[in-house]
Amino acid sequence: MLEIKELWFKHKGQKEDILKNVSFTTEKRRLTVILGPNGSGKSTLFKCITGIWKPYKGSILADGKEINKLSHLERAKIFAVVPQEHEPAFPYSVFDIVLIGRAPYVGLFSSPNSKDYKKAEQALQILGIYHLRDKPYNKISGGEKQLVLLARALAQEAPFMLLDEPTSNLDFKNQIKVLSKIKKLAYEKGLTALVTLHDPNLASLFADKIILIKNGKIVAEGKPEKILNEKLIEKIYGVKVRIVQNNGFRLIFPILETSCINKPLEAQK
Ligand SMILES: Nc1ncnc2c1ncn2[C@@H]1O[C@H](COP(=O)(O)OP(=O)(O)OP(=O)(O)O)[C@@H](O)[C@H]1O
Ligand SMILES: [Mg+2]
Repeated sequence: MLEIKELWFKHKGQKEDILKNVSFTTEKRRLTVILGPNGSGKSTLFKCITGIWKPYKGSILADGKEINKLSHLERAKIFAVVPQEHEPAFPYSVFDIVLIGRAPYVGLFSSPNSKDYKKAEQALQILGIYHLRDKPYNKISGGEKQLVLLARALAQEAPFMLLDEPTSNLDFKNQIKVLSKIKKLAYEKGLTALVTLHDPNLASLFADKIILIKNGKIVAEGKPEKILNEKLIEKIYGVKVRIVQNNGFRLIFPILETSCINKPLEAQK
């Protein structure tokens, strides 16, 4: 379980806080989704949780342990992170990038062993990208890179998975595949998955719990069907939406003032 308690963060020399009294909890075996507009503080929150940035007030507990009391290695063992942007400095192969996920288990003066190789290969297979194994990471597509970073997170076998927009470059099928996989893994392996998304429909389909954030403040928190309503989505994104129910699924779609949907604009004259 991850507990975020009354977190405040701002960058050095800045007047305005980026995170303002942020508190929430995420549970084991569950997929928790953070949803919020651009610039609302999602990636900042992730960087605070993983210890890259230091909040000036508040605490973060991972299974009851204060994360700022953990060493770098201990943190690397418990958090598998997929950042929003990632460009390695060297032209590593896809397999090397995934193998780096095993680094917390490899001794300082040792090399990865056969178990590490096996875990990395399994992760590539699980995500259906084994064919990319020997390609240079900087010569694959944006979506393929995202799948590789997810494979690296899987290979790491950490109890907490923090994925910052893991689906932003993925095609329709891979978005569904990846979120299903994360949800299943969390449930079956007892992991805590915290994921940021931009699409309220994907969040509504997959999240066990949604945390809505705007301007660094938590606006609502709970099960998708409980918190995602038309009024709240309009308040968060400034877009009017309608929510329809179908076979137990909820579909959120925007109401456009001039209906451009499925029509060329000149047809409206
Ligand atoms: N290194 C930085 N120094 C100063 N301000 C920053 C820095 N990185 C981000 N910010 C600011 O902090 C705020 C929150 O940014 P953050 O990246 O956390 O947003 P986000 O919710 O992840 O947005 P997005 O959905 O676009 O990824 C923004 O106003 C941004 O401009
Ligand atoms: Mg971000």
